[in-house]
Amino acid sequence: MEPAPKFPIPSTQVPSTPGEAHDPTDSLAISRRFLQQVFSRASVPEQSGSLPGFFPGVVAQERVSTGPLPAHPSFFPTPSSSLVQTDATSMGDISLEGLLRSLPAAVPGTVPAPIQQAIDAASQTAVLSATPLAPVPSLYQATPASQPPTTQGGIAAPAGDDLGRVLNEIQSHSREQIQGKLGNSSLIETRSTSGSSIAAKPLYKPTHGTGHSYRPFNVDGIRADFPALNQTINGHPMVWFDNAATTQKPQVVIDALASFYAHDYSNIHRAAHSMAARATDHYEAAREAVRDFIRAESVNDIVFVRGTTEGINLIANTCKSFLREGDEILLTEMEHHANIVPWQMVAHEKRARIRIVPFEDNGEISLDSYRRLLSPRVKMVSLTHASNTLGTVLPVALMTQMAHQHGARVVVDGAQSIAHMPIDVRSLGCDYFVFSGHKIFAPTGIGVVYMHPDLQDMLPPWQGGGNMIHRVSFDETIYADAPAKFEAGTPSIGDAIGLGAALRYLQQFDPISLQAHEHALLEFASYELSKIPGLTIYGHAREKVGLVSFTLDGYTTEQVGKELDRYGIEVRTGHHCAQPSLRHYGLETTVRPSFALYNTHEEIERLVDVVQHLSKKR
Ligand SMILES: Cc1ncc(COP(=O)(O)O)c(C=O)c1O
Repeated sequence: MEPAPKFPIPSTQVPSTPGEAHDPTDSLAISRRFLQQVFSRASVPEQSGSLPGFFPGVVAQERVSTGPLPAHPSFFPTPSSSLVQTDATSMGDISLEGLLRSLPAAVPGTVPAPIQQAIDAASQTAVLSATPLAPVPSLYQATPASQPPTTQGGIAAPAGDDLGRVLNEIQSHSREQIQGKLGNSSLIETRSTSGSSIAAKPLYKPTHGTGHSYRPFNVDGIRADFPALNQTINGHPMVWFDNAATTQKPQVVIDALASFYAHDYSNIHRAAHSMAARATDHYEAAREAVRDFIRAESVNDIVFVRGTTEGINLIANTCKSFLREGDEILLTEMEHHANIVPWQMVAHEKRARIRIVPFEDNGEISLDSYRRLLSPRVKMVSLTHASNTLGTVLPVALMTQMAHQHGARVVVDGAQSIAHMPIDVRSLGCDYFVFSGHKIFAPTGIGVVYMHPDLQDMLPPWQGGGNMIHRVSFDETIYADAPAKFEAGTPSIGDAIGLGAALRYLQQFDPISLQAHEHALLEFASYELSKIPGLTIYGHAREKVGLVSFTLDGYTTEQVGKELDRYGIEVRTGHHCAQPSLRHYGLETTVRPSFALYNTHEEIERLVDVVQHLSKKR
């Protein structure tokens, strides 16, 4: 057998102990984490000492910067940072119960009145847990229909509604409003170099952009930005619950596309004329918008492709020259076909072996199995960031660190995470991050591969042609540097410009308000659907993106989908291009409503009504 060619990862990237960086067994519920983050208690000590996954990037950064890991010069260029509370308030108890107990007393008169009222209402009805840090699974781990929705994890089900109201009130206030009430000086971020504090600044600094104020989150205002939402289907207002498949487009994206074709249309990079310069400027500005959005170091790390599928094909085909017979590629049981088939093709060609990391019945990835499967034979690990069938958010920062310890490269399929959580590729530490524009309010035909800088020269191009060369003769071709090296031919210029517009549109909003809104929708939908007799929800991971996969006894999933469509409610039914994940449960199809920033509680009520009606007719 030929010796394996070098496809190394820098040794400094390897953490000393993965467990130190992130504890996957952390059992705190997402609702609690959300409340904690809204009120910026990020420094609060937790039972397990970590905040996995809810903001994977942020978490990884915090953990990595405070842990014993040797800093990779390009991965972790900033000085270590930590969040500290400067007021005397102790927020050691970050459970809902703790919040209810301590927040009003701790910061009297500093909480917006409607939030205070919701908290007061919740205080009156909540059955408080004796253990302050007990999990609050009631809404994420939806109650099976057979079980009465009574006390779960120390909180009575009615308190779930109150929790929902608290969440709703919180998410209807902008971060600035809340921070304004709490006082800017109550929490500060300090950056330390060599252990000394060198700067203090307000916590509520936008993570993206240049210090602008966020547009207050208002779902009606957001809906008005999306013309497609303003229509009826079968005589009913259309409800778009197929966001995991694709998202509707805001007017600014439609305008950006129209304006490009109406005024600035040209091919790029290759002409001396003004139109080419304008088109090139817009295209490259879109690349910068992507870089900023996913916090990459350089625009050179951003390769435009057609979408996630093409991105993973690009990666599989460019890394295959580093694969040898007997090498292993690790995938998870919950991958989309786009993250299975390209690897199968490459594995077949190179006589490499694909191995699968299973997940538990609740939808959580089995980290023990992952740990066991990792070995020096593993060259590539390709993971979905969030499952499109179960909603599970994988601890990809941790999984990346573990893979790097064994010298494997890591691909993160961000198709389902990009629109639903802040992404910081350097904090995640992954070698590749891939996503599709159309799942984040941008046009179809455009996607992104983030490629870590140390791969760019090492990897061969995938396709040859124009745009990717420095010089060509019949004897030899000298390739351009990344990203052009990986972008042969005329790209989807207009769609890239549309993607830039979509990302800038999203950056108007505080990502915390967006996440809060989507999590409130997920909790509400999970809880209400779980009460319907004969309905089974699949996927109860502690950390989920906003989708619910379910079946209803007595009906095919297609029948449920058609009935919902009769009332204007558009949901995906079928195998969702992730058949292995459904076969885990012996299923071929599910019904999958999936939520985005423009969806409302009222829309979920309409969905629940239709499904409830079907259930009663059985
Ligand atoms: C997790 C995941 N990966 C990959 C894809 C493929 O994306 P695209 O069809 O945009 O290439 C999808 C699409 O649903 C997905 O959900």
